[in-house]
Amino acid sequence: MKGIILAGGHGTRLYPITIPTSKQLLPIYDKPLIFYPLTTLIEAGIKEIAVIIKTKDQQCFFDLLGDGSRFGISIEYFFQDDPRGLAEAFIITEKFIGNSDVTLILGDNLFYGESFIKLLKEDFSNGARIFCSKVLDPERYGVLEIKNNKPVSLVEKPSKFISPWAVTGIYTYDSSVIKKAKILKPSKRNELEITDLNKVYMNDGDLDSKFFDQSVLWMDTGTFESMKDASEFIAAIQKRQDILVGSPELAAFKNQWLSKKDIEKNLHYSNQYAETLLRLID
Ligand code: TTP
Repeated sequence: MKGIILAGGHGTRLYPITIPTSKQLLPIYDKPLIFYPLTTLIEAGIKEIAVIIKTKDQQCFFDLLGDGSRFGISIEYFFQDDPRGLAEAFIITEKFIGNSDVTLILGDNLFYGESFIKLLKEDFSNGARIFCSKVLDPERYGVLEIKNNKPVSLVEKPSKFISPWAVTGIYTYDSSVIKKAKILKPSKRNELEITDLNKVYMNDGDLDSKFFDQSVLWMDTGTFESMKDASEFIAAIQKRQDILVGSPELAAFKNQWLSKKDIEKNLHYSNQYAETLLRLID
């Protein structure tokens, strides 16, 4: 299984902050946003990761993540200067994916919870897999309609209520995703829509859906309000439970991809993040 983090986009809802920089480099409490999806992929056991960014942000992402070796993984960068849709990710990274299965995660999505990682690690053989979370405002999301316990349709931002199950920003596909993405037609907003891609799998009977229980938290941090909520949540849970959420070093250490020495070697500073990390790996 390979991984893709989609970290392009204009981030217009966060203007003017995102005029000079990428949304995925902004802080969620004590870490840059991209650390959270990156950690999720590492927790899922994924070592080969493609990060899709805008050309102008290249140096900043490289300064932060490098070639991935400081997290015990490999990172390759790909470029998307115009946000032509989530499904374009598979066309851009065609050579990287090759014949592998691939998990795509949105660079501004934050997931938290043990049972989430269990779901993510479940065996995957072929087709596509989506992960759904119950929400109070399904009209804002791509939604999975269910009848007699079976998924029957996917609807983008439904104007009338069909189900509370929003499709979250993490998806797993077999390598036929490249071919399928290439035949998609741009939508009215001129994007290659991930919902259309998932519909192709669904129509072939190849779409598997997983559902989060109440212990899993999913947040899309694309607005000022949700960034503030996510920061407050991370600050509170880290302090009360003495943990680090979204630490790629810690996740890699737990996978035995990094030793304590490797981590120490790359911590060139002493602050709250570094001290907590060192204490936890001890
Ligand atoms: P969005 O939040 O839908 O878009 P955005 O980040 O450009 O923000 P805004 O709506 O405020 O303008 O994107 C979800 C995630 O996917 C985010 O991490 C950016 C990324 N993305 C891409 O990398 N390429 C794309 O073509 C799109 C649409 C999104």
